[in-house]
Amino acid sequence: MSNKVTIADLLSAKRQGRKIVAVSCYDYTTARLISQSDVQMILVGDSAAQLVLGFDSTLPATMDFMVALTAAVRRGAPEVYLVADMPFLSCQVGEAEAIKNAGRFMAEAGAQMVKIETTRTYLDVVRAVSNAGIAVMAHIGIRPQSISKIGRFKAEATTAEMAAELISLARQMADAGASSLLIEGTAAEVAEMITQRSEVPVISCGSGPGCDGQILVAPDILGLTQQPGPKFAKKYGNMAEQTIETIKTYSKEVQTGVYPDKEHSYHMKSGELDRLREILKDER
Ligand code: KIV
Repeated sequence: MSNKVTIADLLSAKRQGRKIVAVSCYDYTTARLISQSDVQMILVGDSAAQLVLGFDSTLPATMDFMVALTAAVRRGAPEVYLVADMPFLSCQVGEAEAIKNAGRFMAEAGAQMVKIETTRTYLDVVRAVSNAGIAVMAHIGIRPQSISKIGRFKAEATTAEMAAELISLARQMADAGASSLLIEGTAAEVAEMITQRSEVPVISCGSGPGCDGQILVAPDILGLTQQPGPKFAKKYGNMAEQTIETIKTYSKEVQTGVYPDKEHSYHMKSGELDRLREILKDER
């Protein structure tokens, strides 16, 4: 029997007050390692445009790129709850286009939910995708795909008016059919209020401890990223330094001839080298 995490498991975690642990990850190898931990949810985030491709925003992520990454993560973590991020312009140009693109993540990549960065303007898109039978995570608060309108990100819902607006938006998203909420970079008090009022699981990305679950990107957790990140991006490892040291050791072994040694090389079958010398003996 499959032990695949389902939306029902996430709902029961919320109801029983068990925290949902989520990680944003982009590749087979990392997903395979994560699947050996207690993480229930992987998001294949469009932050891949920055952390995999090196762009300075999430905007260049395309559908084909995101579908390929999502399928790779599914192969690495067959039982985790898999959420795919709808990239910039994959759901803003119309409901039909949004349904088609969301459906690709389900049919081609094995995702169980799609995440849509959304405002009130896109309530109908959330409703349409949900009505098509596809679970939607509504991403509210800081929305990195809006960088060109904001210039730089700052904490959301830090005033009573902003907070009231976000609380109302969260309710509208759930009413439109969102099966989960992701709140990014929002005042902790407000994220907690939204969580208490919400029937669907609420995942925090830098929005304090009062939500049903937490998400960070794998390269930050592992300490692979070197550039300064947002305040909430806690590092739990120092893989950047370990990676550099490991590659330096490899370089040194190649330069000094220590690598490859006998153990890491293939060899001819016994007696075959002598036979070859015999064959070649008259050749120059
Ligand atoms: O793109 C991403 O990885 C995300 C998470 C940081 C929530 O949206």
